[in-house]
Amino acid sequence: MNRLLIASGGGDCPGLNAVIRAIVHRASQEKDWEILGSIQAFNGVLWEPSEIVVLDMQKVSGIHFQGGTIIETTNKGGPFAWPIKKKDGSWDVVDRSDEMIRKLQFMGIDGVISIGGDGSQRISQKLFEKGLNIIGVPKTIDNDLSSTDSTFGFQTAVQIATESVDKLVTTAASHNRVLVMEVMGRDAGWIALNAAVAGGADVALIPEFPYDINIVKEALERRFHRDRGFAVVVISEGAKPKGGVVSVRKNEEIGYNNLRLGGSASRLISELKAAGFKQDMRETVLGHLQRGGVPIAYDRVLSAQFGVKTFEMALEGDYGKMVSYRHPKFISVPIIDAIAAPNLVTEDNQLVITSKGLGICLGI
Ligand code: F6P
Repeated sequence: MNRLLIASGGGDCPGLNAVIRAIVHRASQEKDWEILGSIQAFNGVLWEPSEIVVLDMQKVSGIHFQGGTIIETTNKGGPFAWPIKKKDGSWDVVDRSDEMIRKLQFMGIDGVISIGGDGSQRISQKLFEKGLNIIGVPKTIDNDLSSTDSTFGFQTAVQIATESVDKLVTTAASHNRVLVMEVMGRDAGWIALNAAVAGGADVALIPEFPYDINIVKEALERRFHRDRGFAVVVISEGAKPKGGVVSVRKNEEIGYNNLRLGGSASRLISELKAAGFKQDMRETVLGHLQRGGVPIAYDRVLSAQFGVKTFEMALEGDYGKMVSYRHPKFISVPIIDAIAAPNLVTEDNQLVITSKGLGICLGI
C-alpha cells in the first residue's frame, strides 16, 4: 500500500477542497493508494495523539464547491517553529521537524502533499532538504507565488472584490462620496488591480507602487464638479505612501509571525483630509470575505487540474517539486525556484498598462 498525506497550511482559500477531492479521485483509479489528511497543516502529525483522517471517495464527495478546507489549516507555528510555553509563562519555539519525519515514517507515509502559499512552500522545501518526499500545490488568494501563471483561489477573491466595487459604486454615486475599499494583498497588488479594472474604480493603490497622496487627491478632485460626483478607490492592505511603511494591526496570537496588516484605507482617508481633500469619504474593509465561500468555476477547474497533476507527480516520484500552471500545460517546477522570488506587479505588466489606459490613477 502506498500512502500519501495531504496537509493544507497558511490562510485558507477557495478551491482547497476541490484540490483534495481531485487528488482522491485520481488516486482511486490506481491500485493500492491510500490518501490521508493531516488536520491543521502538520499539527495533526505532531499532536499527541495525532489527528490524521482517511480521505476516501465518500469523505470527499461533493466538497469541490465548499469553501474552506475539510482538513483545516493554520498559519501559526509549524514543524520548524513549534511554540512552547516556558516556565516563566513566556513563549519560545522548538524545531520538531526531525521528530515529524520520524513519525511520518512510522505511519508508513510515502509522500506528503503540501497545499499552501509562500510560507508553507518554504517549509516544504526545508522538509524536502531533510529527505521527505514532498510535493507543493500553490495556494493563495494574493497570487504572489512565482513559477506558476496563477494560484487557485485568486480569481474567486477578485470576483468577490469586483462585486463589492459594483455595490460601492451605487452608494458612492447616490451620496456624492468617495468610497475607499481595502482588499487583501500583503506584498502583491493583484487583487486590487484586477478588481479596479473589472469594477471600473478610479484609483488603485498597491504595495508595489508607493503612492503620492497629492497625485491621488488630484485624481479624486477631477471626479467632482461643484461638489457633485463620486469615486471608488481600491487599496491593498499592503499599500503605503511614498517614504512610508505598511499599516499594521496589533497581534498577540501565539506562533503568528506575520505582520498583521490592516488600516490602509482609513489611513488613506486621513492623509487625503490632511492634504486638503474636501469631499465626504467612507471606508470598507473587505477582509476575510475574500477568502470565504464557494470557489468560482475557474478556481474549481484550476484546483481539479492541480489535484490530478499532483497525484500523477506522486505516481512518478517527482518530489521536491510544486505543481504549476503554465498555460496551456500543467508542469512541475522545483519548489526552491517557486519560493526564490515573489510574483509582484511590475510597471511594465500589461495590466498596469491597461489600468493607465483606462485612466485609473495608481498614485504614481
Ligand atoms: O496570504 C493571504 C492573506 O490573505 C493575506 O493577504 C493577508 O494579509 C493574510 O492572508 C491574512 O491572514 P489571517 O487569516 O491570518 O488574518
